[in-house]
Amino acid sequence: MHTTSKKGRYGRIRQQLSDLLSKPGNQLSRMATIAAVLHHKMPGFFWTGFYLLDGDELIVGPYQGPAACQLLEKDKGVCWAAIRREESVLVPDVHQFPGHIACDSRSQSEIVVPVRDPGGKLIGVLDVDSKQLDAFDETDREGLEQIVALLAANSSPKG
Ligand code: SME
Repeated sequence: MHTTSKKGRYGRIRQQLSDLLSKPGNQLSRMATIAAVLHHKMPGFFWTGFYLLDGDELIVGPYQGPAACQLLEKDKGVCWAAIRREESVLVPDVHQFPGHIACDSRSQSEIVVPVRDPGGKLIGVLDVDSKQLDAFDETDREGLEQIVALLAANSSPKG
């Protein structure tokens, strides 16, 4: 997708999500909404979802796409790298990333964005996989980071 139209699409999705997430719900329902809207509105998103820290484990949360690993082996792969670095990780070719965890062999590239709670605490990651090599760029990083930031910003009566 052209950079300008991709930016526009992220902007529209962010607005829609901001409206949806301001309604009553909790963090899990907000994550489920983000995964569903992104997955169905962004072309080429093959797997879209969250891995959540539970103690020192990363366990799958709300997602859309093929069935994924329930638990990610500690300190291995792209999601753990984003947790350790506390920053987004773009992987143009998953086969070149040491320790990459292949939940589905069709995934070729990936972007992982850290997720924080309203108190600023790191609680997990948003992970998006593509069947295309080199599918994600700085526009995706910016768009997804702004969308994930809605989880820290929005709170509703139920949570
Ligand atoms: N590839 C990820 C694992 C999660 S799946 O992509 C859904 C990783 O290396 O952490």
